[in-house]
Amino acid sequence: IKKPKILPTLVTDINSVDGTFCILDELINIFTLGITSAYPDLEDPPVNITLSGNNPKFGDYQCNSAMQISKLLKDRDVKTNPREVANNILNKTPTSPLVSKTEVAGAGFLNIYLNKQFAEHILNYILKFGVKPPPVKQQRIIVDFSSPNVAKEMHVGHLRSTIIGDSICRLLEFLKHDVMRINHLGDWGTQFGMLIAHLQDMYPDFKTHSPPIADLQAFYKESKKRFDEDEEFKKRAYACVVQLQAGQPDYIAAWKLICNVSLQDFQTIYDRLNIKIVPRGESFYHSRMMTDVKELKEKGYLEEDEGRLIMWPNPDNHDGIPLTIVKSDGGYTYDTSDMSAIKQRVQEEKCDRFIYVTDVGQYTHFVLIDACARRAGILSNDQRLEHVGFGVVLGEDKKKFKTRSGDTIKLRDLLDEGLKRALDKLIEKGRDKVLTPEELKQAQEAVAYGCIKYADLSHNRINDYVFSFDKMLDDKGNTAVYLLYSLTRIRSIARTAQISIEKLMEEAQKSGIKLNDETEWKLGKVLLRFPEVILKVSKELYIHSLCEYLYDICSAFTDFYDKCYCVEKDKSGNIVKIFYERLMLCEVTAKVMQKCLNILGLTTVSKM
Ligand code: ARG
Repeated sequence: IKKPKILPTLVTDINSVDGTFCILDELINIFTLGITSAYPDLEDPPVNITLSGNNPKFGDYQCNSAMQISKLLKDRDVKTNPREVANNILNKTPTSPLVSKTEVAGAGFLNIYLNKQFAEHILNYILKFGVKPPPVKQQRIIVDFSSPNVAKEMHVGHLRSTIIGDSICRLLEFLKHDVMRINHLGDWGTQFGMLIAHLQDMYPDFKTHSPPIADLQAFYKESKKRFDEDEEFKKRAYACVVQLQAGQPDYIAAWKLICNVSLQDFQTIYDRLNIKIVPRGESFYHSRMMTDVKELKEKGYLEEDEGRLIMWPNPDNHDGIPLTIVKSDGGYTYDTSDMSAIKQRVQEEKCDRFIYVTDVGQYTHFVLIDACARRAGILSNDQRLEHVGFGVVLGEDKKKFKTRSGDTIKLRDLLDEGLKRALDKLIEKGRDKVLTPEELKQAQEAVAYGCIKYADLSHNRINDYVFSFDKMLDDKGNTAVYLLYSLTRIRSIARTAQISIEKLMEEAQKSGIKLNDETEWKLGKVLLRFPEVILKVSKELYIHSLCEYLYDICSAFTDFYDKCYCVEKDKSGNIVKIFYERLMLCEVTAKVMQKCLNILGLTTVSKM
């Protein structure tokens, strides 16, 4: 028996939709109805709708299902061709207030043209009520990001994770999800043995007097050197690990002390970048790991292998690598903590989505964790672990990002250089002469941190990415500087005409936005795509799509502003006419841009 399909209900009244409306979803609904009524015998027929691209000849959206359906029919020996199928679909597709017309074109495309009144309605809504998130089912989502290792360098890879992870959180929070921002710090493991032993020697009174460890990396290097060269020290270091794992208070105190030094260091970076994250490192799972390992053992998931205990996703297939759950010395590993972490996230936190932001090098690790968690019954069939991978950061020479002397780059230094370069840029443009010192400082920070974040976010994260201050501080092209400038410029249009937002809203009551000029209509259509872009990015977690969208808005705005006067002045600069409807369109543009920039974690300034 074929189960009856639940067909979507369509929008029939323009006034029933608001600014959160996703046009693409509605077009899919409309064409699903058209296609299923034209071809009721096809089960799950393909409904493919895409944006048409820049040529207005192809409409605003396109339905490309006719080619695929024609092929499906041919496989069933039905004689037809794509154009015929397209015409059939067109005849059966219900009318909608969204669509002004649909045409069959070319090899069998259906070109869809949006309705202007509908677009104006939505833009007026945004003008009045602001940019609101499209409705989605609320979920509890964990985003595991940043996650540097205690006593080690927080490097540019962690910076990428921090920037991308924060933006993903902001996006999901905007959609009203319950987001847990988790810092899975590397704060547990055998390296603490040598750190504690070294601490005991260097600062014997560490319990009563907080030791002034300014440079934990140097401290780490010193203890590592001793560990490698001094057998006695090495033995003591091992003994320290045992004491620590047994929870001996003095050792816990020493460990906490070391962790706190690192954490404070990391926190200064988070503060500068305005990033919120909750520390919950590997140590959090220590007692859980003991119970979890016992359980995995009892259930027969673990196998012995040269003294260690390993776990395969599939016991009958030993291709690839297994997880190492217990080392031959009895210690736990990165794998063990991730198994306990996923269990805790499923069973205790009751999360619906599990997102991990690390470099692509860890891809196989997370595939393994996912598969083993599934085997162990921790993840059910509809749950999966999402690895948000990213490429390595390269220097301008396309080699691994290093200082000129070949050292790894300290994040603090990198941010400082950003600040310096941003200030240079602002001075080069003469901004120091027009801005107050306070405004200049705000602009400097917005540009510096904004450009570092945006350069990272605007590239497809999967690829390696070249870190270049020169490129990121360019004021042309898809850069933070260009976007921040554009936004302040848009905001200044009404301000220089001395039109208050109250006055604008008063005018909006009378007429509202009208998209008469072709450039206005184009800009309007770009703005309408906001919910569609947000929903897509929240599913796929490729933030660069949002950056591309932001750039599209800017380009469409520039075309509009070049052609259409918002304020008309006479030769001596006196205002002759104010085009309120256009100022309203500027306002909606600014609102949408502002929201996108917020989601990307960029601070906007009113003057720069
Ligand atoms: N500390 C790890 C690293 O620096 C990243 C941890 C990522 N999160 C996780 N649950 N494994 O590579």
